[in-house]
Amino acid sequence: MHGNVKTLNQFIIERQADFQYASGELSRLLSDIGTASKIINREVNKAGLVNILGDAGTTNVQGEEVKKLDVYANEQLIAALSSGGEVCVMGSEENDDIIEVKFTEGNASYVVLFDPLDGSSNIDVNASIGTIFSIYRRISEGKGAGKLEDCLQKGTQQVAAGYVIYGSSTILVYTTGNGVNGFTLDPSIGEFCLSHPDIKTPKDAKIYSINEGNEAHFPEGVKKYIEYCKVEDKASGRPYSSRYIGSFVADFHRNLLKGGIFIYPPTAKAPNGKLRLLYEANPLAFVAEQAGGKASNGKDRITEIVPSALHQRVPLFIGSENMVKLAEEYLANN
Ligand code: AHG
Ligand code: MN
Ligand code: MN
Repeated sequence: MHGNVKTLNQFIIERQADFQYASGELSRLLSDIGTASKIINREVNKAGLVNILGDAGTTNVQGEEVKKLDVYANEQLIAALSSGGEVCVMGSEENDDIIEVKFTEGNASYVVLFDPLDGSSNIDVNASIGTIFSIYRRISEGKGAGKLEDCLQKGTQQVAAGYVIYGSSTILVYTTGNGVNGFTLDPSIGEFCLSHPDIKTPKDAKIYSINEGNEAHFPEGVKKYIEYCKVEDKASGRPYSSRYIGSFVADFHRNLLKGGIFIYPPTAKAPNGKLRLLYEANPLAFVAEQAGGKASNGKDRITEIVPSALHQRVPLFIGSENMVKLAEEYLANN
């Protein structure tokens, strides 16, 4: 403890008794993700200095090769998770295939899926970006590297999930199925400190987040729901406010704290929606539900969808419970 401050690692160990299995392993795994995210944070904070330090694909003044930040973040996570001995297979937005972890000893029993850098179009403009992760137990038999089937589990099987946002401050938020807690990085001591204990999201709220530029191709129910959000009505506090950063993780986090709905519906360009089930929708659905919110594809609960491919996309309606329920009703009736 630093005075009244509780660090991420202290918290993880205190809560270890909540875990169903191999508690030490999962604790180490979560703490490895914390460490990797501190390294990613350091690079993200230098993003504006590329002109001085060198552009991606070039060599910087120190003679090091400069990488794109999402590639860099991916490499950091893979390195952190393959060396710990807890993870047998990974799936990343940046890798077409699963990443097998071959190890000589032990019996690594965890599976991690991640979006190393979400919202990467915001890197150049100093807006918030983040890392999203989802953790499962392996289901394939035997020792050695895990398999694709280990990655294609329903979201309800997640043992932990969360995200890190590199924003006005850096925050790590995660759940192991026993509530949601947030930890803000204190740069002066280099530690994530508990800042948002037991996060609960409002059931009703006044923010809607959607890329309205695509409206022409929204399903009729989504168009009608958005219309509803804009109609003046004193009793329900409408019109609601429209807020859209274009980084899912940052839009989600704001709505988690303030209440709101985030929608990425099917569009002409993206008939199944744009966001990925395994490392965007499922982990944040787990967090949303643990905070008292809801996540749906417009009809069914996100975490009950049986995945068929590593990079599959899914339409997403996520956030305050009553807002998601109403959006579903609009879809069902239009
Ligand atoms: P990524 O940077 O990992 O590829 O994800 C981008 C995603 C997500 O963060 C965001 O919500 C969405 O793209 C924004 O899409 P539009 O620009 O189509 O609104
Ligand atoms: Mn993403
Ligand atoms: Mn990404």
